[in-house]
Order: sequence, then C-alpha cells, then structure tokens
Amino acid sequence: MSGSSKIPSSEITPEETFLNRRFFMKSAIWAGSSVATAGLYRAFAPRPEVASVGSVITSVAEPAVQSVLAADEKINSFGEIAGYNNYYEFSTDKSEVADKARNFVTNPWAVEVGGLVQSPRTFDLEELLKMESVERTYRFRCVEGWSMVIPWVGFPLAKLLAKVQPMSQATHVAFETYYDLKQMPDAGSAGIDLPYVEGLRLDEAMHPLTLMATGLYGKTLPNQNGAPIRLVVPWKYGFKSIKSVVKITLTDKEPPTTWNLANPREYGFYSNVNPTVDHPRWSQARERRIGESGTRETFMFNGYAEQVASLYAGMDLRTHF
Ligand code: MTE
Repeated sequence: MSGSSKIPSSEITPEETFLNRRFFMKSAIWAGSSVATAGLYRAFAPRPEVASVGSVITSVAEPAVQSVLAADEKINSFGEIAGYNNYYEFSTDKSEVADKARNFVTNPWAVEVGGLVQSPRTFDLEELLKMESVERTYRFRCVEGWSMVIPWVGFPLAKLLAKVQPMSQATHVAFETYYDLKQMPDAGSAGIDLPYVEGLRLDEAMHPLTLMATGLYGKTLPNQNGAPIRLVVPWKYGFKSIKSVVKITLTDKEPPTTWNLANPREYGFYSNVNPTVDHPRWSQARERRIGESGTRETFMFNGYAEQVASLYAGMDLRTHF
C-alpha cells in the first residue's frame, strides 16, 4: 500500500514551499493566540494565485482561513495523496487512477443545485472557484483501513447551500458525480452502479467541517482526487466524500448512496468513522497511515468527536452505522 505517483515532477506542487508557509502561518498563529486549541484560525492578507495541476489552469484563491485539525500529525506528500486513489469510474486499481484520469475534462464545469430550495441555480466553475476559500488539514480515513492527512483547499458546503436557500421541508442533501463512458471507458467494469451518488443529512451538510474541496496543497485539485470539485466530510469514511460533483439536490428523504446500494450490510448511510463498530469483514479499530509502517489507533469520528458527536446524540451508532 504505498503511493506510486505517475505524475511528472513538473506538475508536482512544491511541497516544501507549502509546508514552510504552513509552518510559518502556524507559528505566527500560535504566537498570537493564548488559547491555541484545534479550531479555526484567521490568517493574513488573502492573495489570489494562479495554479496549474493536470490539464487545466484555473485560479484558486489564496485561503483566507488556516486551520490545523490534525495538528500533531505529518501531512502526507503530494505524491501519496495524488498517486493512491479510489475513483472507480477510471480504475479499480489505486495506482492507475492518476494516469487514466489524466485527460479528464474538468473545465468547463457546472454544478446544478436544486430540489427543495427557494432559488435553484447552476454554478459554473469560475463562480465556485471565487467562493472565499479556506485551507483545512484533515485526517482522511478510508473504510478499507488506510488513512492519510490531507491539506485541502475549499469552502464550507454551508456557504453554497445558503445561496440557494433550503426550504424548511428539506432534511437531506443528495450528491451526484459526473458520468460519461467516453471519458471513463473503464467505468463499465467498476462493479458498482454509476453515476456515483452520495448523501448527507442536512445538519451534516451544514456543519462547518463539511467542505467542497477545489484544491489541495494550495493548488488546483488533481483529476484523480475529484477535480474540479468534490465533497470532503472528515469524520466519515472516505467513500462519503464524493468526487467531481455535478448535481446537489435538497430532499425530504434519505438519499440512496452508491456503496449502500451495492452492499447495505457492509456500508450504511451514515458511515461515521467508528473504531468500535467493525466492518463485517474486518476490524475498524486501527488504521494504516499511508507512508508509515505498522498501524495506529482509529479515533471516534476520526478525531472530530468534539465537533460532531452532538449531531448523533441519542442515536444507536450500531444500527445507524
Ligand atoms: N467518488 C466517486 N465519484 N467515485 C469513487 O470511486 N471513491 C470514494 C471517494 N469518492 C469514489 C468517490 C472512496 S472509496 C474514497 S476512499 C475516496 O473517494 C478516495 O479519495 P482520494 O482518491 O482523493 O483519496
């Protein structure tokens, strides 16, 4: 399980620059804050920059907010994050996704947001990339038992939903990935129903940790990681973080989700990271951090219990797995 990247070195984000800047920001923030707990920290003068990863060049706003939510853990390298992927539309082989998604056209792009909302709208990529962005370093835990620490760039989904004004009857949010056999010729043998669909409860979707990611390592999102825009829900197993989103629908029912449709006994709607509820075929108590040997403990809600446990107060997490 090591990340083998097929991305030419010319396209690899200067990680050292990113990490130095991050270290600088972190030090400055910590120096200026007497209560330096994990949370959101305001950084300095946002400045737009032009970034290029993959086949398109787009403008990614310099993140306005820096947060460190896996503060004491080493961030995975760009090569690990962009070279070890689950994106079944392109390949079921993690090391092949980057290469097979290389020519995926992600510009122009549009995301249709509708359903139970006052003002349904289609957002084009340019508008989405102009949303005030944040930088969030989150743990990412796959249901298969591996994990990474990823420095995302994006914006809270709540900000997008606010623009369409959900109606009071809306209880859930459904998401759909782009699907085109011409661009995804291997998708027919993915072994799952496509287009890939996912869903959240509305309060989960509105939670400030829930992001629509448009980049990582301060650059445009690589195709294999779900360009140009994907969901990131850090307290849930990675398959909830649906890639290359084209449609978001507010609804009054729990929406169908791809892995739950494929195997409801193994993959629930909630899929919150929970070390005490095993997958029917393996334990979820520990995880293997990509790039490390051995395993480490898996945390309840992937370490974000303080922020999200209240969403599930009174629920039996064994039945609502
Ligand atoms: N989204 C789509 N459309 N297709 C997929 O196959 N795989 C999911 C999720 N989102 C997947 C998807 C799974 S199983 C995981 S673990 C994460 O994407 C992987 O994200 P990464 O490749 O950026 O690490």
